[in-house]
Amino acid sequence: MFDTLKPQPADKILSLMQAYRADPRDTKVDLGVGVYKDASGNTPVMRAVKEAERRLVADQTTKAYVGLAGDPAFADAMIDLLLADTLPRDRIAAIATPGGTGAIRQALEMVKLAAPGATIWISDPSWPNHASIVKFLGLPMRSYRYFDADTRGVDIDGMIADLGTVAPGDVVLLHGCCHNPTGANPTADQWTRIVATLQQVQAVPLVDVAYQGFGDGLDQDAQATRAIAAAFPNLMIAASCSKNFGIYRERTGILLGITRDKDETALTQANLNFLNRQNYSFPPDHGARVVTTILTDPALRAEWEAELEDTRNTMLTLRQALADDLRRLSNDDRFDFIAHHRGMFSLLGTSADKVEVLRADHGIYMVSDSRMNIAGLNARTVPILAQAIIDAGI
Ligand code: LMR
Repeated sequence: MFDTLKPQPADKILSLMQAYRADPRDTKVDLGVGVYKDASGNTPVMRAVKEAERRLVADQTTKAYVGLAGDPAFADAMIDLLLADTLPRDRIAAIATPGGTGAIRQALEMVKLAAPGATIWISDPSWPNHASIVKFLGLPMRSYRYFDADTRGVDIDGMIADLGTVAPGDVVLLHGCCHNPTGANPTADQWTRIVATLQQVQAVPLVDVAYQGFGDGLDQDAQATRAIAAAFPNLMIAASCSKNFGIYRERTGILLGITRDKDETALTQANLNFLNRQNYSFPPDHGARVVTTILTDPALRAEWEAELEDTRNTMLTLRQALADDLRRLSNDDRFDFIAHHRGMFSLLGTSADKVEVLRADHGIYMVSDSRMNIAGLNARTVPILAQAIIDAGI
């Protein structure tokens, strides 16, 4: 049977992780996969997570199955974090999923169940796994303009023009905050235009929220998602706890289905539960329980928010330092966009050849589309990267 298999394309983010590990140079710099690293290059377990885990180990009396949708307390806590009081609870169906990827996968499976002919619209560029999963599921896919290669900001007019051609019922995948890979994000006014356009064409939004708290703050990063949630009768929100709780390997995420009313919620919930059952039965519980413990305990939550805020400010400081160094070295302001971008990533906006020069000559690893993980930098490596960018003629 296996002799009929075809080789699969390597995931460009994950293969970079392996190449970095295999590089013997001790000067190497990893700006590849989206993992937060502190000044010493470690990805520590957050203090609030450690404490929540301690409590779980001490207090948990059973590991028996929970339910197909996961722990309802996790759904309540995540709905509050994502949407606050935007919507009545009985308009929201929810399932816990294995990470944000699991939520995206289940969202696309929902499209297959509910609207098999719908086209999935994805930003150009987007996280590569978005298109990969859509393709794998055999759903029709199109892209909409997003990134302005000259300004390294959002090509809002191109985006609005393309979204204006979406057919009723098509699904438009949006990054709720901290766009991956570009780091360029719409302003509040631009979001208003995007929402109005999507309403006009009667699209169904699918909002991917993988970096809440990494951009402008926990609430600020949820503003666009809340505006979208308030504006459409049906939409989906796929959220990840991997980054903002630093629990990458625990695979903790959630998919929300926003419905018209209580009856539609019951139907949607039953279908979401069914999808979990088909794919893996019960979603992972440990990470979800850690998140619930943190979000529902005021002291622990305050500690988590403070640590997340430190992480966010560290990334902003690194962005500014890199932009400043590049301005000084190039005597030009063309890299100022790095300080304006938000989230973990910035798309440098250079060719795959130049990215390869950075890797081969300087041991600097970034994704071939020139996405840099800003959180992979520190005070020591910022000047090294800035000099390498200039030396490579970028
Ligand atoms: C990334 O974009 O680097 C992260 O979301 C990790 C991943 O799974 O690709």
